[in-house]
Amino acid sequence: MKKVRKAVMPVAGMGTRFLPATKAIPKEMLPIVDVPTVQLNVEECVASGIEEIIFVTARGKGAIEDHFDRAADLEALLERKGRKEDLAALRRISAMARFVSVRQGEPRGLGHAVLCARDAVGDEPFAVLLGDDLFVGQPPGVAQLLGVYERQGVGVVGLQEVPVGQEHLYGIAGGERIDDGGFPSRSSPTLRVSKLIEKPAHGTAPSRMAIIGRYVLPPEIFAILERTPPGRGDEIQLTDGLATLCAEHGLCGIEMAGRRFDAGDRAGYVLAVLYHALKRTDIGADVRAGAERLLAESRAAK
Ligand code: G1P
Repeated sequence: MKKVRKAVMPVAGMGTRFLPATKAIPKEMLPIVDVPTVQLNVEECVASGIEEIIFVTARGKGAIEDHFDRAADLEALLERKGRKEDLAALRRISAMARFVSVRQGEPRGLGHAVLCARDAVGDEPFAVLLGDDLFVGQPPGVAQLLGVYERQGVGVVGLQEVPVGQEHLYGIAGGERIDDGGFPSRSSPTLRVSKLIEKPAHGTAPSRMAIIGRYVLPPEIFAILERTPPGRGDEIQLTDGLATLCAEHGLCGIEMAGRRFDAGDRAGYVLAVLYHALKRTDIGADVRAGAERLLAESRAAK
């Protein structure tokens, strides 16, 4: 089985939910404390053994490419000032992986965005990460999918159960739990997927297992996406392509162990910032004390 070396990150979206913040900067550059959201996802990839990141970008997304490039002037400045730690942190960003970008000239959907990476990926399996989903877990998110991919030899989608009534916001998977890696099938996190629906209408979801923006896919998905007609929202949906992949080649899902933040949602973004701030050794204690004060004040004001 070919090793998964590459990850595709569609980052061409306009980020309209975060206007005005995203009027001039890509939403993927919005910081979680002081690290852009896209860097957290790149770090998840690198921690999972991925060597090359392929960004699917669009006009106005140059800041993402600059972020993962060397910054000779900034490095020289930090060097002159003797700021060794900052310099090392800055250099580490561009050395983490190989960074490639391809363009999605027009917004024709997530399936189309993945298809744009076809030549850059070539004939090998690859991971896909959606920028709005931030994941904190051990093993790292992509690594959890790779384990299933290596054992089962088919594409894998990352899943988490969502509350009743939220199924229409996600791609939803139905299937049976299978024994994978020594779990009794009853409690196994691995599913053999039999059904996939993109954003099912109320009452039609096959389960509450939602795709949370992590995929490991075989290269066969490209030919499938090429013949996938526009679906929901008149866009080429990745989930529709995956339904065909599932029928023709098989597909697994893994209920991911860890915490997921919907950083594409304003409240979810704020919670992601708070979570990461609380975990930091430099500012965690101050943030905790301040947040507790603010909560007490807002309770008292009610
Ligand atoms: C996309 C996918 C959907 C998935 C979701 C996860 O939807 O189409 O299947 O469940 O990401 O965040 P979007 O949120 O981009 O509308």
